[in-house]
Amino acid sequence: MPALKPLKKAVLPVAGLGTRFLPATKAMAKEMLPVVDRPLIQYAIDEAREAGIEQFCLITGRGKTAIVEHFDVAYELERTLAERNKQAELDVLRAMAMEPGSMVTVRQQVPMGLGHAIWCARSFIADEPFAILLPDDLMQCDVSCTKQLADAYLETGGNVVAIEEVPMERVNKYGVLDVDKDMGRLVLVKGLVEKPPIDKAPSNLTVIGRYVLMPEVIGHLAKMEKGAGGEVQLTDGMAKLIGNQPFHGVRYEGKRFDCGDKTGFLEAQIAFALKRDDMAPAVREFLKKYT
Ligand code: UTP
Repeated sequence: MPALKPLKKAVLPVAGLGTRFLPATKAMAKEMLPVVDRPLIQYAIDEAREAGIEQFCLITGRGKTAIVEHFDVAYELERTLAERNKQAELDVLRAMAMEPGSMVTVRQQVPMGLGHAIWCARSFIADEPFAILLPDDLMQCDVSCTKQLADAYLETGGNVVAIEEVPMERVNKYGVLDVDKDMGRLVLVKGLVEKPPIDKAPSNLTVIGRYVLMPEVIGHLAKMEKGAGGEVQLTDGMAKLIGNQPFHGVRYEGKRFDCGDKTGFLEAQIAFALKRDDMAPAVREFLKKYT
């Protein structure tokens, strides 16, 4: 295998309308919704950093400026915290400080679909491999999900996507794999289809919101072909890479919470609170009242 280009870039699309969370998302970005005390976007950035990602591109849209502010230095806040000797709170802010120049934003003026959002990052991606993290998929795992993909990329080269098995009756909500060879943790992919009818789905292995892709996907997305739901689908662009480049699914080890969905979001709150020593006993106690 020729030497692989290192994986240093990540694209995080945050330009969606978040209609399932209206009215909460009328004036506020869905990606700023907190799970316990961290906004969804911060979990995604932290996860990417754990995988060695150094450059970040947020695909933003109208009403998303709070996300950019979140990663800026809050100078007055920090000074006030320092004056009040709030060291623990200051440490929280400083731990999330971004390296100057490591985060750029690109505007997707009209949310035409995930594939279109990724195409908007084409100058940032240039000719390098890149990760994609959809912040509304929240991961809880020992090894960062993006790190699991980055490790698989070093093994296989080419494109790798995180996958999950779902009950057959739910496959029509996801991008679905057509499997060439199932090797356990890794699955060699021979096709991909976005939101297939249940009786036409090639498997129940579905793509979740973490990817490592080769820059050639941009050329396919540039054709702006509309797929499922009349949107430019990333799945369709990725499908065109198969046959020309390696394409693998990685059975991700850990839990995934679909925080774009109200029930998934609530479950994430409980799961993450139960992992916190300062909260778990009280949360366990109050949960008894509801079961
Ligand atoms: P979703 O379909 O889950 O997000 O897209 P949405 O469209 O905001 O949510 P609903 O369905 O209306 O409630 C997955 C990810 O892709 C981004 C979203 O911001 C989200 O992070 N996205 C989607 C874009 O950036 N642009 C798009 O055109 C579509």
